[in-house]
Amino acid sequence: MDDLKSKYLSQIAGAADESALETIRVAAVGKKGEVALKMRELGKMTPEERQLAGPALNALKGEINSALIAKKAGLVDAALDERLRTEWLDVTLPSRARRVGTLHPVSQAQEELTAIFAELGFSVAEGARVETDWYNFDALNIPGHHPARAEMDTFYMHRAEGDDRPPHVLRTHTSPVQIRSMEKMGAPLRIICPGGVYRADYDQTHTPMFHQVEGLALDTDISMANLKWTLEEFVKSFFELDDIELRFRASHFPFTEPSAEVDIRCSWKDGTLKIGEGDDWMEILGSGMVHPKVIAAGGIDPDVYQGFAFGIGIDRLAMLKYGIPDLRAFFDSDLRWLRHYGFQCLDMPSLHGGLSR
Ligand code: PHE
Repeated sequence: MDDLKSKYLSQIAGAADESALETIRVAAVGKKGEVALKMRELGKMTPEERQLAGPALNALKGEINSALIAKKAGLVDAALDERLRTEWLDVTLPSRARRVGTLHPVSQAQEELTAIFAELGFSVAEGARVETDWYNFDALNIPGHHPARAEMDTFYMHRAEGDDRPPHVLRTHTSPVQIRSMEKMGAPLRIICPGGVYRADYDQTHTPMFHQVEGLALDTDISMANLKWTLEEFVKSFFELDDIELRFRASHFPFTEPSAEVDIRCSWKDGTLKIGEGDDWMEILGSGMVHPKVIAAGGIDPDVYQGFAFGIGIDRLAMLKYGIPDLRAFFDSDLRWLRHYGFQCLDMPSLHGGLSR
């Protein structure tokens, strides 16, 4: 019995893990283990022998069992210690920066121009991309027969058969927001409205969906000089250049009188687009003094209020500022292009902090 005891106690002490310990338990005190076999021999003993061997065997079994329990507790603790040692995590470390995508150049340009116009006292208005033809055309002094409707390559929404109301259109410009803002806010008024617009057109500088920012300022003493100053101020801030060459060209829009289009001097050499040099001009906006009929359509008295309006192509601003030669790539959703031209989304443009870095 002493042999059994020292054999199993030393095996238990040396067990490396819980499964080794279980094997030892089965061999020692399991139903068919050595101690059980010895107990079976008690039947063949004389009563005197049995009186000695019985309690001794029970004591042996008890000792082995307590050694097993103690060892098992030690192994569980050690296993836990090991996990704590290898699986620890320092929650006070800074997190690993993860890319969550980039800001599209159009969004970036939009944030930048909004910051500039905010500084000039313009608030941001919104309108819908699907408009009635009254807001998109009639209210802007473009009646049904007017050639401008055809010129704009308008997308018309489908109407169910038998429904003879005039169709809705995908707005061809942000100018309908002029009317909606006048209706909503009255005069005096100073708003911009950036957003998507649609025309059936497709080449290096035209895509069927593009972005404009509309501007409208109404008050009792606004002149063409205010328009020119505002646009020059905007362009200088946006391109962060003092010597940008602008060309004001007399033009015609049904909703402004007089009207002007504005081009920026640029060059397109060897597939790269550069601003401020070269012999090319890129048209970036249309503008003018708001037509009295348009002011009246917005519910405001044109004998008291007048003002200027403009519509700037945001995508073209982005092309010029970031040197992106083909507008069509803006809307291809090519991940490599987006990573190359995209902006960090947490850099908020502001006039004092810098527009784009
Ligand atoms: N809506 C015109 C266009 O899309 C631009 C414009 C806006 C012109 C406001 C004058 C005044 O071409």
